[in-house]
Amino acid sequence: MSYISALGYIGIGAKSLDDWQEFSSEVLGLQTVREKDADGVDTLFLRMDQRHHRIAVREGDDSLSYVGWEVATEKDLDSQADALKQAGVTVTEEPDLAVIRQVQRLIRCEDPAGFQTEIYFGPATTRAKFISPTGVSFVTRGPDGRDLGLGHIVLVAPNMDELIQFYIDLLGFQVSDYMTFPGIKITFTHVNPRHHSLAFGPAPEGRGAYLDHIMLEVNDLDGVGRALDMVRTRELSLTASLGRHTNDEMLSFYVQSPSGIGIEYGTAGKLIDDATWTVSNWDSSEFWGHDRSNAH
Ligand SMILES: [Fe+2]
Repeated sequence: MSYISALGYIGIGAKSLDDWQEFSSEVLGLQTVREKDADGVDTLFLRMDQRHHRIAVREGDDSLSYVGWEVATEKDLDSQADALKQAGVTVTEEPDLAVIRQVQRLIRCEDPAGFQTEIYFGPATTRAKFISPTGVSFVTRGPDGRDLGLGHIVLVAPNMDELIQFYIDLLGFQVSDYMTFPGIKITFTHVNPRHHSLAFGPAPEGRGAYLDHIMLEVNDLDGVGRALDMVRTRELSLTASLGRHTNDEMLSFYVQSPSGIGIEYGTAGKLIDDATWTVSNWDSSEFWGHDRSNAH
């Protein structure tokens, strides 16, 4: 039983908000709103739909600050909080943080890799039309209107097994499929029809936990192609060339953000129908492309 309905928002730190503003607006086509948050902190809010924001960038270390998992109702929030407490997880109600994140109520805990995990309901939604500076439309809803969240994230951690167990057993995530290469297994999980909202990979030797990449999906191939042109024009670091993933069939490329966090920018991602879905174990991450030889 899952109470979580979507990957609602994320917060990241950046050394330069100016760099992020330029990158997200001119390359990714996100609408940027730069203002002080309720705490008075200069924040770059990134919009991709009717939500006030989906990504918040604040000055700080170049890393993931928090992940916001959405539930549909207040009742679901209380039920999820109870389930976590019963499992012995320390969960705190955070009214001040709820104001800063612009949600109705929010609870906070730490996942086993130390990522700040926020679960909330009632996100701020605005009448102001989303207008992409590059003319793209982001896919945050399925064909039936169901919220699919902002995209997906991939977390890498030394204690990956413990992390996966936390999300599956305590937060109700369901395994979509696996990819297995020599010495590496990646686990993909979903909370709604989006093929995966969260995937897990093992940390390279000697490294701690980190956010590997954020995937943003647009609704047409031309949007991906134009963004790729911008990456090349600006000589940004293309960490994987255009390619088609096997499991979620996403047609995408990967570029390094100003924080070093990867951005996967794609289209045509697969949706899952739990009634007919079968978990598989893929031997490759792409049908073609995604050349990483220029990665640096
Ligand atoms: Fe991805």
